[in-house]
Amino acid sequence: MQIRAQTKAVDLNAALAQSAKAVEAALESLLPQPTGLHARAQEAMRYATFAGGKRLRPFLVMQTARLFDVAEDNAVRAAAAIEVLHTYSLVHDDLPSMDNDDLRRGRPTTHRAFDEATAILAGDGLLTIAFEILSHPATHPSADVRCELISNLARAAGSDGMIGGQMIDMKAAEQTLTAEQVMLLQRLKTGALFEFSCEAGAILGQARKEHRDRMRSYAQDFGLAFQITDDLLDVTSTAEKTGKAVGEDKGQGKATLISIYGIDGAKAEARKLIARANATLAHYGDKAVELQALATYLLDRES
Ligand code: IPE
Ligand code: IPE
Ligand code: MG
Ligand code: MG
Ligand code: MG
Repeated sequence: MQIRAQTKAVDLNAALAQSAKAVEAALESLLPQPTGLHARAQEAMRYATFAGGKRLRPFLVMQTARLFDVAEDNAVRAAAAIEVLHTYSLVHDDLPSMDNDDLRRGRPTTHRAFDEATAILAGDGLLTIAFEILSHPATHPSADVRCELISNLARAAGSDGMIGGQMIDMKAAEQTLTAEQVMLLQRLKTGALFEFSCEAGAILGQARKEHRDRMRSYAQDFGLAFQITDDLLDVTSTAEKTGKAVGEDKGQGKATLISIYGIDGAKAEARKLIARANATLAHYGDKAVELQALATYLLDRES
C-alpha cells in the first residue's frame, strides 16, 4: 500500500473542541427537558451527559462522516446517539453492583448525585433515546440507512458487544484470563462502540464495503489501544487529571493487559496498534489526518 505524505497540519484540540460544541448543541435539543412527575430521571440523564466527557466517539462519527461527504446535520445526530449510549454505559458501569465508583467526569457519579434507582432509570433512558434519535428521518432520508444504523448500534451495545464485555469484566475478578481473553474482553466492552462510531460515517455515506471494512479495521486497533491506555491511566494517572478514581482496577482484581504485559509491554502494544490504525487510513490522504492525529494522541493522553 502506498502511504501518502501528510502535508496538512492538524490542530487536534481545535478539531475536538469544534466537534464537541456541535454535538453538545445537538444533545441539548435532543434530550428531554425535565418535566412532570418523572422529571428526576430526565434531570439525571442531563446530569450524566453534560459533564464534560472527551466526546471521542462523536468525534469519530463526525470525522469518518467527512471522509464520505455526509452532511453535518446528519452526522451530528448519529454522533449524539453514540454519546448518549456511551454515557448510559458509564452510569451503569459506576453503580455499586458494578465498579462502585463515586467520581465520574470530575464530579459525583449519577447514583451518588441522585440515588441508585434514578441512576439505573437514567441509564435506561439514555440507552433507549439513542435509538429514537437514529430512527428519526432527520438522521438520514433513507429508512434503510437508519435501520442499518439502529441494527449496528444494537449489536455493538448488546450481549455480543459492550454488554458481553462488561460481563467478562465482572467475571474476570474471579478467574485469571489469558492475554487473548483480555483482548476479547476489551474488544467487546470498549471496541464495539468505537467500531460503531467509525462505521456510522460510512453507513451514512452509503460507502462501499471496502471503505466500511477499513473503518472497522481502524476502529478495532483504535479501540484496543484506547482501552490499553485507559488501563494505563488507572495505574499512572491521578483522579484530578482523569476525573475518575484511579488505582481501582488492581484493587478490584480487574483483568487488564497491564497485569499481563506490564506498563512498558502494554505501551508497546498500544504503539503497535496505533501505527497499524494510522496505516489503514493512509488511503484517504489528507482527509484523514485528524483521525490519525487522534490515534497518535492516545499514547500520551492524560485523561
Ligand atoms: C471511559 O470512556 C470508559 C471506557 C470505555 C474505558 P472515555 O474515556 O471516553 O470517557 P469520557 O466520555 O471521556 O468521560
Ligand atoms: C468501562 O470500562 C467500559 C464501559 C462502560 C462499557 P472501565 O470500567 O474500565 O471504565 P472506567 O475506567 O470506569 O471509565
Ligand atoms: Mg468497568
Ligand atoms: Mg469502571
Ligand atoms: Mg478503566
